[in-house]
Order: sequence, then structure tokens, then C-alpha cells
Amino acid sequence: MSATQDVRAMTPPKIAARKGGTPLVCLTAYTTPVARLVDPHCDIVLVGDSVGMVLHGLPSTLAVTLDMMILHGRAVRRGLECALMIVDMPFGSYEESPEQAFRNAARLVAETDCAAIKLEGGEGMAGTIRFLAGRGIPVMAHVGLTPQAVNTLGGYKVQGRGDTGEGILRDAIAVAEAGAFAVVLEKVPEQLARKITADIAIPTIGIGASSACDGQILVVDDMLGMFADFRPKFVKRYAELGQDAATAIAAYADEVRERRFPGNEHVFGDAPKAVADEDTA
Ligand code: KIV
Repeated sequence: MSATQDVRAMTPPKIAARKGGTPLVCLTAYTTPVARLVDPHCDIVLVGDSVGMVLHGLPSTLAVTLDMMILHGRAVRRGLECALMIVDMPFGSYEESPEQAFRNAARLVAETDCAAIKLEGGEGMAGTIRFLAGRGIPVMAHVGLTPQAVNTLGGYKVQGRGDTGEGILRDAIAVAEAGAFAVVLEKVPEQLARKITADIAIPTIGIGASSACDGQILVVDDMLGMFADFRPKFVKRYAELGQDAATAIAAYADEVRERRFPGNEHVFGDAPKAVADEDTA
């Protein structure tokens, strides 16, 4: 056991034991500074494959690779002390067979020091979840809207309305029975989220799935308002960092063009006046 594991406050069993208790607080992170910001407030920090869209400008998560997840996982790990770090398995790294999933999940665990992985899929992935969980790799499942299936689903629409809700309930039951310690429910109606949460023994983590879930997760950049034109119904913006950053960058550009930056306070003299000057150089 490594020194960092000794001090970790959160573990998959502790997350599982929170079923029905105080709601679990979860956010994504992809970098060390953001991991440091979210760690004191979160139970789970997910290195989501949403990194492809959020940080790399990709149109979907489908081109995200295992190497990208490892790079960002290592960065996030350096910023966490308390929260449970979970890393997403990217598209194509686990669907082929339980053996392929184990090989790649083991790389994520060994190379990022994450305590668990997340993968998308319900009944069809139950065998793989059982295989991983039975071999020392805790799994958080993900059902409802599964973004890696965007082409099959025909977009990022709400899932499980009307009769199709039965299938998602079966998915949630299957992943819970297979040994997942928690499950993300994405973009499903409130009534369905409430029924699933009542019917399964593991915590449900909602995104666009109402407060009926055992916890909530959002993409951190979405709730911080980084993207002016991305305003999905299920995201509440707690800040407008994108707008604030645009205003700051425009002010910097104006000041440089008008020679107002750098000011005297930012300029070095020929001979330092005191040691303090040097310290801040
Ligand atoms: O990739 C991701 O960030 C996710 C969460 C939004 C659940 O899967």
C-alpha cells in the first residue's frame, strides 16, 4: 500500500455505504490545479472521458484514448488528498471482452493510481463488470444516456421516457448485481431515477436525473460557466468563468496595445533595492 493510499479518506466501499444517506458530491477534473480546487468539497472526482470535448476540442468522446486518460489521470492524482479518484475507460478500451477490459483497467489503476474505473453500459456490460470487480478493480457503471453510444442513440437525448424506462431499470439492476459499487444515471426522467434509486442497493449518481438520486455529478467546466454557448437544462452555472476570462483577456490586450501594461510596478530596475525584490523576481 502506498503512502497516498494510507491517507485517502474515500474508498469504493465507503461510497457504496453512503446509499440513501447524505448525497454524494461528485465533479470531474482533468488537471492538477482543478483537482486541488475540487478535492476538499467532493466525495468523488471523476477523470471523465468528457476531457476530449472539454479540453481537447473534440466533437464527441469517441476519439479519446487510454493514453489521454492516463495523462490526465496522473495530473489529477497529484492534486487529490481526500476524494476518491475514478478514471473513465475510453471508447474501444473495454467492449471487446472482459480480458481486454481487465488489461486496460489494470493499466489505468497502475499508471494513474486511481482507486476505481468507470465504464458505460448496462446488461451488456454486466459480465465485464463482474470480471473486473472479482479481480480487484472497483467499477462505477454508467447507464441511461451513454455518450460513447451517441451514434447508436442518434444524439444526446433524454433516455428512458415511457416504456423504454424498463430497459434502463434492467440495466441498473444488472450492473448493481454484477458488483458495481455505484452507477451514474445520465439524462433520465425524474420518475425513472426515483424508481431505480429505490430498487437497487448501490448509490445512483445523477447527471440530468433529478435530486432523487443518491448523489450528483457535473462536468466542472460546465458548472463554472466556461462555455458561453453550452447551456444544457440539467447544468446549473455557479460562476461565469468563461465570460470573466474573456473580459480579462480583452483588458490585457487593450493595455498592451496602449502601453499601459506593464506598469512601473511590474518592471525591474538595474540594481535590486532589497532581498525582498529578488524573492519576488
Ligand atoms: O465523462 C464524463 O465526464 C462523465 C460524467 C459527465 C458522468 O461521464
